[in-house]
Amino acid sequence: MGLFITFEGSEGCGKSTQARLLAEHLRSVGYQVSHVREPGGTAIGDQIRSIVLGMQNTEIDPTAESLLFSASRAQLVNQIIRPQLAAGGIVICDRYADSTYAYQGYGLGRDLADLRTVTTKATGGLVPHVTIWLRIDPAVGLRRKLHPDASAIEWNRLDAHELAFHQRVAHGYEMLANADPTRWVTCDAEQSIEALAAHIRTSVLPFLHAAHGAISSVTERTTP
Ligand SMILES: Nc1ncnc2c1ncn2[C@@H]1O[C@H](COP(=O)(O)OP(=O)(O)OP(=O)(O)O)[C@@H](O)[C@H]1O
Ligand SMILES: [Mg+2]
Repeated sequence: MGLFITFEGSEGCGKSTQARLLAEHLRSVGYQVSHVREPGGTAIGDQIRSIVLGMQNTEIDPTAESLLFSASRAQLVNQIIRPQLAAGGIVICDRYADSTYAYQGYGLGRDLADLRTVTTKATGGLVPHVTIWLRIDPAVGLRRKLHPDASAIEWNRLDAHELAFHQRVAHGYEMLANADPTRWVTCDAEQSIEALAAHIRTSVLPFLHAAHGAISSVTERTTP
């Protein structure tokens, strides 16, 4: 039921920009869309977000960190994502479980099998239908976030890791995408915002067609 789309990628690759543009586009053509982000997306998840991303929390234990991300995810899946999908809606999530594998797994060296076990517990095994990976040189993404015009953009505890960490994360995304090419759509995130948005709109079309019948348009949903 429904269609579950996630956006993944390194810092500053354009996830939030493109998730918003895709949500606006799909709403404009009549779909019911929930647009959420991780960590957070719920009142409880947003409180967890401030703990895991807070610049002051440098002493956070890596296991505590992983479990907090999972706790936020469990709340989001059960409170928002599953009900929206069950109603035949589209969910667009800005980061999801693959961020855990890329950051805590490949970036911090946590055991991937353990992370998968905890993630499955948190999500009940819910996997996105399609994951848009905005592929970028991590140094380019970090430079975008440090640009003076981007002063409103959040600079968090994970951004502040050294470049080598971000390179391991990027390598992690490469491994994850290569392992499941039917779910992952790889996009060149160094093209313009408009060109990238157009490419993403085209890329999700086959998934919309495949989900046809499982997703409802606003018009269909409001017809008695
Ligand atoms: N294709 C692009 N070309 C140049 N700049 C871009 C592009 N996409 C986004 N930006 C700019 O880069 C900055 C980061 O974009 P955005 O917040 O969408 O990235 P993000 O992946 O969500 O970042 P984060 O990892 O912090 O959540 C913003 O200032 C945005 O305007
Ligand atoms: Mg973002």
